[in-house]
Amino acid sequence: MAGRIPSQFIDELLNRVDIVDVINSRVPLRKAGREYTACCPFHNEKTPSFTVSPAKQFYHCFGCGAHGSAISFLMDYERLEFVDAVEELASLVGMTVPHEAASPQHKISRDLYDILELANRFYQEQLRQHANAAKAIGYLKQRGVSGESAAVFAIGYAPPGWDNVLRHLAGKNINEKQLLAAGLLIAKQGGGYYDRFRDRIIFPIRDRRGRVIGLGGRTLGDETPKYLNSPETEIFHKGKELYGLYEARKYSENLQRMIVVEGYMDVVALSQYGIKNVVATLGTATTKEHLEKLFRAVPEVVFCFDGDRAGRQAAWRALEVSLPLMSEGRQIKFMFLPEGEDPDTFVRQGGEAVFQQQLQQTQAFSNFFYQSLSKDVELNTIDGRSLLVEKAKPYLLKLPEGVFRHMMISKLAEISHVEPDKLSTLIFSDEGSKAVRQYAGSRLFKTGGPTPIRKLVQLILEMPSLAKYIEVEAIRGLNERGIPFLIELIETIRLKPHINCPGLLELWRGTENGELLTKLVKQPSTLTELELHLTDEDIKREFFDTYQWLKRESFKQRIDELTHKASLNVQEKQELRELSALLAANYIGDTAKEHDA
Ligand code: GTP
Ligand code: MN
Repeated sequence: MAGRIPSQFIDELLNRVDIVDVINSRVPLRKAGREYTACCPFHNEKTPSFTVSPAKQFYHCFGCGAHGSAISFLMDYERLEFVDAVEELASLVGMTVPHEAASPQHKISRDLYDILELANRFYQEQLRQHANAAKAIGYLKQRGVSGESAAVFAIGYAPPGWDNVLRHLAGKNINEKQLLAAGLLIAKQGGGYYDRFRDRIIFPIRDRRGRVIGLGGRTLGDETPKYLNSPETEIFHKGKELYGLYEARKYSENLQRMIVVEGYMDVVALSQYGIKNVVATLGTATTKEHLEKLFRAVPEVVFCFDGDRAGRQAAWRALEVSLPLMSEGRQIKFMFLPEGEDPDTFVRQGGEAVFQQQLQQTQAFSNFFYQSLSKDVELNTIDGRSLLVEKAKPYLLKLPEGVFRHMMISKLAEISHVEPDKLSTLIFSDEGSKAVRQYAGSRLFKTGGPTPIRKLVQLILEMPSLAKYIEVEAIRGLNERGIPFLIELIETIRLKPHINCPGLLELWRGTENGELLTKLVKQPSTLTELELHLTDEDIKREFFDTYQWLKRESFKQRIDELTHKASLNVQEKQELRELSALLAANYIGDTAKEHDA
């Protein structure tokens, strides 16, 4: 939908708006050093962990991980769509949003929400009115679903027949193409369409704002498939949505924890028994998008699985997906039910109290992690313990730097009887590249902080005008993972000299590099406390130090390459002399320090 508004306009807008004003008029901010703080509006807290950086035009909460630009703040705080948030900001600074001719795509999505809403209302009516309603209600009763729960979850019934929804909505001026796009129809091979959902209980899947975006349908008997979901449509993506999230948040916006179960019926049953903070994936494994959604809503996520092998495997998969997301303030726990039970059957048997009791016996992330890895490992032998370290290493490397990673290392240190510092070196020493290891570090960044390249990106985000000082050719040849992106960033800023940090984030929104950028922007945790009192001069000095270091590294790499060649031509000999001279003239001095590091 962003395509409707030209991206230059977004750049310009983000330049004119001050995020501090935007937030301060909604959540009063207090100045603290270079930044502003407040108690986070997105989760419940007593001491402020919400920070707003005027330099970066970015907010970030250390507690719940919420973060973003002025646009995303309005989207989340006022619950606005992207386009509406842009409109709101524009009116604030007296700009008019230029709307490119409304793309047909945008129009379709607007209608899809309406169509699904109408369809779901129709299914709800059928649960009361249809000739078969008694059978459908009987099924829900037999499954123990109360009328109240059916209302809370807007459960309906798709009657038998091939054209119920087709006929009902055709009467409302909605054509077959639109119904197909909404996922309500299936196209016949020889032409024509028929209803996707027939003789099934219907569970509407709603987005954060309560709009129906897809449907799940269960048979009343043993027909297959047992569950049928809407297909992927323009507004429905199974791998991103969570059943019950809207209902849970509607119950309370200040939930601290969310329980993730597997089925629709599990959500409905737990909710009916008073456990309202439950969501289910839609028959898919947990994805990164799911977790991101969850962590925007709550700081703690509890995965609830069957205690059998399949359940433990699913739990391990969820753990693997969550590794890169485990930053400060986030917690993941695992809850295993007795074999053969699902939350629905379990809570009906034991009631809320027994479920709550089971919830007290969750396994912490670290516990489940090391326990799973230690299976078949003899921890009372040196060989076994070093095997465990080897097995843990690839996973630990995926954790973001920070307190959580530190604690995971401490725990491994305890189990393996290796000192934590040694263990860190062992695990992280060959992370990235040679350059990472040798970098001496400086006063602004914590030791073991970001790689020099990331640091440059971080400093450029803080002050994009710095980009112009980097000679792209001097570093292009450097064989480091982040170089191509650093160069892309610099070249982009050359073309758009006035772009600011959120403008840059917008450009890469939704890409892997965009994620990296966002991570770097909200990662002042890699900076020391000094950062809070940084002046522009400090930032510049840090930038030039890091850049010089990188340039020198690039020279050294090239010299190394040349000296290892069997024979050099005249040009190469000349290049080698020049590089050596440059290195000797400019950068003598701290080589000794580097050899120590
Ligand atoms: P009940 O038998 O109604 O209790 O189902 P359940 O909620 O216990 O579901 P189950 O544990 O069998 O499956 C969990 C989830 O997987 C369901 O809620 C669905 O989202 C999904 N699922 C199960 N069976 C099917 C199927 O046949 N097709 C599809 N697409 N999804 C299914
Ligand atoms: Mn079940």
